[in-house]
Amino acid sequence: MEERDLDRVVQIEEENFSVPWSRKSFLDSLALSHTLYVVAEQQGQIAGYCGCYQILEEAEIVNVAVDKAFRRRGVGRQMLEELMRLGKERGSFAYTLEVRAGNVPAIHLYESLGFKSLGIRKNFYEKPTEDAIIMWRHWSV
Ligand SMILES: CC(C)(COP(=O)(O)OP(=O)(O)OC[C@H]1O[C@@H](n2cnc3c(N)ncnc32)[C@H](O)[C@@H]1OP(=O)(O)O)[C@@H](O)C(=O)NCCC(=O)NCCS
Repeated sequence: MEERDLDRVVQIEEENFSVPWSRKSFLDSLALSHTLYVVAEQQGQIAGYCGCYQILEEAEIVNVAVDKAFRRRGVGRQMLEELMRLGKERGSFAYTLEVRAGNVPAIHLYESLGFKSLGIRKNFYEKPTEDAIIMWRHWSV
């Protein structure tokens, strides 16, 4: 992900989340040395994006979205695989994320990538209030 991608990224973000990240939040995140963000392109358009914060051998995945027009084509799975491949090159071998308890498509996506549900944060989300499932995927080094 680069600064020139942000108009489209923020558009997808606003279409998909009730508390969306702003352009400035993405820009500030991109500028940090321990973040990694990728966009997925289809037919020359940005179809989705994801990112993570790396802390030594662990990384927290923080933004995952695929534009409605490009769903169920493997875009989500491929971009997350690429994010984790790049992350592993930089030394992160354990990945965690939070997901709304009712977000069945996302939970299935993460399970298909080998993530396991290992905890719950009660009432973590707002608009609407909902529990977060905490998921992890580890690789043996
Ligand atoms: C979750 C999301 C990123 C999935 O993106 P996608 O590109 O459609 O996912 P993929 O096509 O790579 O799907 C991979 C697997 O995820 C699961 N999956 C994806 N969408 C699903 C759905 N609607 N219902 C059930 N399982 C689903 C399936 O196991 C699928 O594998 P399959 O197609 O071989 O059955 C997308 O639906 C999205 O952007 N949702 C809104 C934003 C969001 O909720 N982000 C996650 C926040 S934690």
